[in-house]
Amino acid sequence: MTHEQLLALLNDMSPEEKAGQLTQIGLSLCAGGLSEPTGPMQEMQLTPSQVVLAGSLIGDGPSDPEETARVITEMTRLHPHHIPPVIMKDIIHGHRTIFPIPLAMGSTFDPGMNAQMAADEAEEASASGVQVTFAPMADVVRDPRWGRCMESAGESARLCGDMSAALVRGLHRNDDSALLSCAKHFAAYGLCQAGHEYAPVDVSRTELYNVYLPPFAAAIDAGVDMIMPSFIGIDRVPCVCNEWLLGAVLRDRLGFTGAVISDWADVSQLISHGIASDGEEATLYALRAGCDMDMMSNLYIRHAAPLAEKGMLSPETIDRSVLNILELKNRLGLLDDPLRGMSAQRQAAVCGRQDIREHAYEAAVRSCVLLKNEGSLPLRAGTRVYLAGDHADTGRLLGSWAADGDPAETMTLRQAFEERGVALSDLQHCDAVIYAVGEEQDTVGEDGSKAHISLTSAQMRELRSLACAGRPVIMVLFCGRPLVITDAVPYCDAVLNAWFPGTMGALAICDLLTGARDPSGHLSMTFPRAIGQIPIHHDRLSTCRPYAEGAIYCNRYRDEVNDPLYPFGYGLSYTRFAFDTATDGKSVTVTVRNTGDRAGETVVQLYGRACHAPFIRPDRQLIGYRRISLAPGAETSVTFTVTARDLAVYDSEGTLHECSGACLLGVGESGDVSLDIPFTL
Ligand code: GLC
Repeated sequence: MTHEQLLALLNDMSPEEKAGQLTQIGLSLCAGGLSEPTGPMQEMQLTPSQVVLAGSLIGDGPSDPEETARVITEMTRLHPHHIPPVIMKDIIHGHRTIFPIPLAMGSTFDPGMNAQMAADEAEEASASGVQVTFAPMADVVRDPRWGRCMESAGESARLCGDMSAALVRGLHRNDDSALLSCAKHFAAYGLCQAGHEYAPVDVSRTELYNVYLPPFAAAIDAGVDMIMPSFIGIDRVPCVCNEWLLGAVLRDRLGFTGAVISDWADVSQLISHGIASDGEEATLYALRAGCDMDMMSNLYIRHAAPLAEKGMLSPETIDRSVLNILELKNRLGLLDDPLRGMSAQRQAAVCGRQDIREHAYEAAVRSCVLLKNEGSLPLRAGTRVYLAGDHADTGRLLGSWAADGDPAETMTLRQAFEERGVALSDLQHCDAVIYAVGEEQDTVGEDGSKAHISLTSAQMRELRSLACAGRPVIMVLFCGRPLVITDAVPYCDAVLNAWFPGTMGALAICDLLTGARDPSGHLSMTFPRAIGQIPIHHDRLSTCRPYAEGAIYCNRYRDEVNDPLYPFGYGLSYTRFAFDTATDGKSVTVTVRNTGDRAGETVVQLYGRACHAPFIRPDRQLIGYRRISLAPGAETSVTFTVTARDLAVYDSEGTLHECSGACLLGVGESGDVSLDIPFTL
């Protein structure tokens, strides 16, 4: 449809139709047919005629394209203007073939890999009846007590922005398998106090402008289609009804022109917040602020038209939101082709396709991070392995938000070892112990906050007991966040952090441990030494009294060192790399050499700090990175251009202050490299 046709359609719609277009209800609600209000429909106080008007359905169970097509067809037929609902779902790291969790994808430092995942999940999901996904999750995360760290690309605003933009571009395949995208949670949800789910956020404007908004700006520049405000509040105003955030920041400053959808039932949560006294007020505040669609509150569909009739809500406000939703549907061609290729036949042909599984395998190989290796890895041929731990025999390696992934169909670590022909033995006769341990996948993600993030006492007892057997212990860690493993590491000869590696994770881990593949992941988030160090991240702001050995009255703990256990950007390989640098006043050229005896990959990282700035700035910032692969003895050069903008700082008004003059740079394969390269911007 042309824009003029959309406007004509809009002008022809009744107030009830418009209110319906701004409403998202559960797809399962409609699965039982639309004739009689039964079950959930009654609970949601919706009549069949209201259900028919719903602008969107949220996929709240396994995707069934035939059922979805039937519901869309029926609703479109019954709708007064035959406007179809748009189907949305959380496809966060794969649809049927599950990729590593986003925090692991961040550890690949490979936006191209994220784009590939997005293209694959779009193909699987669109065939299965999904048209919009609630991804990328663009939140910067720095507190591992928060369960939703797993959904983010980590602690670096730069890396989160690159990965979010790549995901948006990957979803927007240029064929009829494209999926529309929704960046969330706008904004600063990752700052919930103490990592406590849904806890209040207190964030300064400078932190918003410098850290939490840039990944959304990158997603918007990449063409993201929707934005989802976060559950929290900014300046004590819930994001869903925050006119400054959704207007001045999102529309005016960031130039977003797409549609805004609330988070689950968040419009109705204005009542529990005490902001709105009832559903009508909640509707008024959220719609007026610029939240176009109400997910699962059912307030817009009941109150938008009466508010307009009473003159409390301007028709322009409602029309603006309805047009945003119609344009969203039109972008996918849904107004002309509501089903857009979804079918059981196509789903069967695409889901689990070999090339997609291979991409998921590659992502798992590149996202695992080797944290420690005293020499037991890679396992020598013929090594007899004793496999222990609560993650040795489970397919629950997918993490949370695993869409249609099925743990029951996911290969276990033991099955992977058997498939690869690794000799498994009992503890008494083995040459090495592999201890597969970590978090249960259902305890991460939303509602996954934890006050204790070490291994459990039972896991520690088991580890100590295994270590007493006198064989090297290799710990394979499964987690949706950095855990405090400081007490566990000394019992291990090696530690491989697998995060939650997805459908192909077990095979990837096995191939990394046997040396068939080389570990090359680098941490997307800092591993604290102690929970008391949190928040701890590579780009913390400078302090007036930096720590100095032996100094007192300085930035220190009396009972712990300042450094993390493993810093952002850190990761080992089975080979070694040497770095030489040269600068020419505009750029830094890094020559990387593989000085080991086997091929390997690493991530070259460039960090920097301006020596002087008008505002307090980070001790270091990630300026650039590049994943490279080298044969033994080979070398290659990587050139990074460094500009004043790379180290620029926003003030509290959102004005950008570029830093010129002297700065210090550092190059290496970890976030704690020394900044020893003088450079002048
Ligand atoms: C949840 C999450 C959000 C998700 C939405 C729909 O509460 O906060 O990330 O996209 O509801 O499932």
